[in-house]
Amino acid sequence: MATIRTVLLLLELFTVCYCLKRRSLGGEWIVREATGKYDNLKATVPGGIYTDLMNNKIIGDVFYGNNDTETRWVAQSDWIYTSQFLVDESFLNHKSINLVFEGLDTFATVLINNVEVGSSENMFVRYIFDIKNNLEPGNNTIEVQFSSPIKTAQSLILKQGYTVPPNCPPDNYRGECHVNQIRKMQASFAWDWGPALPSMGIWKEVFLQAYNSSVIRYVMVDPKDAPNDSWLITVSTYLSAEIGETIQGKLSYSLETDVSLIQQIVDVNRTNTDNENELLVDYSFTIPKITVRKWWPNGYGAQKLYNFTAKWQSGSEIDSKTVKIGFRTIELVQEPIGPNPRTFFQRKLAGSGLSFYFRVNGLPMFAKGSNEIPLDILPERGQNPQTVDRILQSAYSAHMNMLRVWGGGVYESDYFYQRADELGILIWQDFMFACAMYPTYPEYLDNVKAEVRHQVRRLNGHPSVALWAANNENELALMTNWYGTSNDFDLYKGDYVKLYIDTVRSELFKYAKDVIFVSSSPSNGKKTVQENYLSSDPGNPLFGDVHYYNYLVNSLDARAYPIPRFASEYGYQSLPDFDTWLTATDNAKDLYPNSSFMDHRQHHPFGLIENNLLMMYQLNFNDTSDNFYKTYMYYTQIIQAMSIKFETEYYRSFMGRVDSSGRGNTMGALFWQLNDVWVAPTWAGIDYTGKWKMLQYFAKEFFAPTIITAYLDIARQLHIYAMTEIASIFGSRLNVSAVIDVYKWTSFSPINSTVLDVSLEYGKALQIAVVDTDNYLNSIGCGSLPTARNQCFFYLSLISGNSVIAPHNLILAAPLKHSNLAKTQVSITSVIQVDDKGVKFEITLTADGISLFVWLDSHRVRGQFSENGFAQVVPTKAVTFQSETITSVATLENVITVNHLNNRQYQ
Ligand SMILES: *[C@@H]1O[C@H](CO)[C@@H](O)[C@H](O)[C@H]1NC(C)=O
Ligand SMILES: *[C@@H]1O[C@H](CO)[C@@H](O)[C@H](O)[C@H]1NC(C)=O
Ligand SMILES: *[C@@H]1O[C@H](CO)[C@@H](O)[C@H](O)[C@H]1NC(C)=O
Ligand SMILES: *[C@@H]1O[C@H](CO)[C@@H](O)[C@H](O)[C@H]1NC(C)=O
Ligand SMILES: *[C@@H]1O[C@H](CO)[C@@H](O)[C@H](O)[C@H]1NC(C)=O
Ligand SMILES: *[C@@H]1O[C@H](CO)[C@@H](O)[C@H](O)[C@H]1NC(C)=O
Ligand SMILES: *[C@@H]1O[C@H](CO)[C@@H](O)[C@H](O)[C@H]1NC(C)=O
Ligand SMILES: *[C@@H]1O[C@H](CO)[C@@H](O)[C@H](O)[C@H]1NC(C)=O
Repeated sequence: MATIRTVLLLLELFTVCYCLKRRSLGGEWIVREATGKYDNLKATVPGGIYTDLMNNKIIGDVFYGNNDTETRWVAQSDWIYTSQFLVDESFLNHKSINLVFEGLDTFATVLINNVEVGSSENMFVRYIFDIKNNLEPGNNTIEVQFSSPIKTAQSLILKQGYTVPPNCPPDNYRGECHVNQIRKMQASFAWDWGPALPSMGIWKEVFLQAYNSSVIRYVMVDPKDAPNDSWLITVSTYLSAEIGETIQGKLSYSLETDVSLIQQIVDVNRTNTDNENELLVDYSFTIPKITVRKWWPNGYGAQKLYNFTAKWQSGSEIDSKTVKIGFRTIELVQEPIGPNPRTFFQRKLAGSGLSFYFRVNGLPMFAKGSNEIPLDILPERGQNPQTVDRILQSAYSAHMNMLRVWGGGVYESDYFYQRADELGILIWQDFMFACAMYPTYPEYLDNVKAEVRHQVRRLNGHPSVALWAANNENELALMTNWYGTSNDFDLYKGDYVKLYIDTVRSELFKYAKDVIFVSSSPSNGKKTVQENYLSSDPGNPLFGDVHYYNYLVNSLDARAYPIPRFASEYGYQSLPDFDTWLTATDNAKDLYPNSSFMDHRQHHPFGLIENNLLMMYQLNFNDTSDNFYKTYMYYTQIIQAMSIKFETEYYRSFMGRVDSSGRGNTMGALFWQLNDVWVAPTWAGIDYTGKWKMLQYFAKEFFAPTIITAYLDIARQLHIYAMTEIASIFGSRLNVSAVIDVYKWTSFSPINSTVLDVSLEYGKALQIAVVDTDNYLNSIGCGSLPTARNQCFFYLSLISGNSVIAPHNLILAAPLKHSNLAKTQVSITSVIQVDDKGVKFEITLTADGISLFVWLDSHRVRGQFSENGFAQVVPTKAVTFQSETITSVATLENVITVNHLNNRQYQ
């Protein structure tokens, strides 16, 4: 290692570096409203108009009260950003001077010294304007004139020549119309979980770039499995070049492997004959596999990354770009699945389903994770590294190995993908089209092409980026007539293929050769391709991925659920907690179900509480006392956490097995949704302040590498399963003890304990036992039939030697409201600091009886507990608390509260 460093150092010392000139134009700018209503306001670039107006106190906090709708005038106005910058003669002497916007949101005209130099119409495109002839030595002005996205969307509706539905979102969204006409975050005009805050602004870096030869625009490195135990590394470097321009120089690539510094030199002397302002230099070389270690998803191994540097040298001018690369293979396996049919009828029913799973480095991987919506509804805030860290670290801690970057948001920041690489979180990347029909007129398609070209080259080199999907639910919407398109089906079908296949797909494959692509989520994968990209039943559980929502059934009953190959969306709502709500209103009186404030923030058409929560509440609690009003936010979090736990474990129990009709071999569970963009009733597991809801704590357990779980069928047979995905046991077996304890609700000692020896195989859910629940409970002393089920519960564990190797799993034998749960008290009996820094603490809890959904809350002290929302089945229990900032025992003793379901306080 030391020698390699020395070589690198020497290389730097002996190269005289006249690096090209790059000058940021970020910092303080001035913004004014176009008609002069507001003038001379301080602005920040990168940034956005809502943030700037909040900073200037022209508007209040847009995340507060009903301010989202009250400040809508902002997005109906036009805004002009200006700044000055100095350039000297030596800068101006360069042959090329570019003005580069990494992101303009969305419709802008750009002027330098009052002369228009370019314009933008897509928030997801990088704009590069040639301003060589517009600059003067000394002071120069830049002006970026944004026009209202709402008005612009409206102005475009005739372009397609016919309606491109839906025109407007449902009224409950309190949103804006025609967002599908524009290439901007689709959720910025409102969604069922978010407000309309149609931002405008220079949302990413802006800089000047001056050079004589050329600069590196993109470096994409694609390591692929090659014969002879080697990696074939294909590097695609895109150099700036005018059409017809000849570029001369030298590209040097360096890769520091575990054993040596590999350098490759490519001489470039080429004319750009393409019709884009970029020249592609493709180059491949191989390295022996033993010289690098693999990159693994979270939970499967380390996330080893290597620096890869591309250096462009022409004369004395040098540009360089370093990317981090990872060595991994990934395949989407779609192979016929043996249905195991028992009868002729079942054989017919089974048809010929295909598997749908990711194989990473040769290992079948159950995709565990969630769906990511934009990290903030204001895109400039969604790039905050702390926000990115908090959300991705939370996903990592909950054993997630895949996140879907959902198609109604944004292609996230470079930092987001870098962190995903570092944490081993694979990204299912949607293109940004969601829940709508879209235009296909030529300028629109050109605009989409520019977006695909840019985003694919920016992102595809990340080892985390696993799959590209052309849209969210648009095939489903078309095939099941969400938007009344069935009368003109062929017309919209033609548009569908034109946009997602002929444009998005073909553009993607131009820049990223053998990537995994699906035309929509959900889709039937290969079957969709066979059916010319529009399957008669896109939600077919025997193929591809499935999105599944049903708020009309008991979400704790297995019959509520499909048995898909891959569940890429499913979810239930809950409310954030009281403290979080109080960041959005000062008035605690607003915080009751169906208050006008709550209704304002409930965008789901079924309304607050009624959306499955009320039914689930009645089925499980039906607590008509005051307790409900005191703790209904907590109740909603319990219902959400229990439901998604149940559903996810049910899906995991179909890993590596199929039922008699060929359903199963489920290999993915990405629940909806990971994060929030405001404080509201939503499907999120992490609220807008970054606080974990009970669901996120439960995810940490239901996504654990090894679990034991069970579900009751209609005949009240309890099916107990265990499964493991510990990579190290692949090909061998894990011999463990499964412990089936039965407790009476009234005692800390189990009344029966059965230990079974089980031998787990990687990736195959194993049925451990089927228990005839009621008779069994009756036989072991839970009481007479039929109420024995109300007296007892199951408590499942997996033990290896003396260690507990899976989260304990409490399985109810009857709905909670029928369970003979005693009222108990849980108290915090000690808080001790367990590190030197003052960020890690141990909290001991004492209970005087079995207590459910024990919920610790650190209120204003941000941090996470090792467990939360748990069942306490022992008199004393310790959990750790990891604080985000340094704190003390005294503070925590003061702030931490504990609540639980059967709390004696609420008698
Ligand atoms: C928004 O919220 C603030 C509190 O931050 C309030 O003072 C203000 O009046 C509200 N309304 C608007 C339109 O900004
Ligand atoms: C770029 O070209 C200009 C004009 O020919 C020259 O003055 C300058 O030194 C060159 N810069 C570099 C880094 O080659
Ligand atoms: C550049 O122009 C702006 C606006 O006219 C002025 O405020 C600023 O002082 C000028 N800067 C210099 C260095 O001349
Ligand atoms: C296989 O790899 C080894 C080690 O890198 C190399 O020496 C050998 O020439 C390679 N053989 C082929 C057929 O490429
Ligand atoms: C570049 O290529 C052209 C045309 O093939 C050739 O005439 C020229 O000599 C080359 N220049 C260098 C520096 O290799
Ligand atoms: C990669 O480069 C960065 C910054 O140049 C450096 O901090 C890091 O240690 C390098 N990583 C490896 C694995 O060499
Ligand atoms: C809930 O309780 C109320 C009042 O005791 C009762 O009328 C209702 O039937 C119960 N609902 C369910 C679903 O048990
Ligand atoms: C648990 O129940 C089973 C079946 O009724 C019985 O055989 C066993 O002895 C019981 N075990 C304990 C520890 O009570």
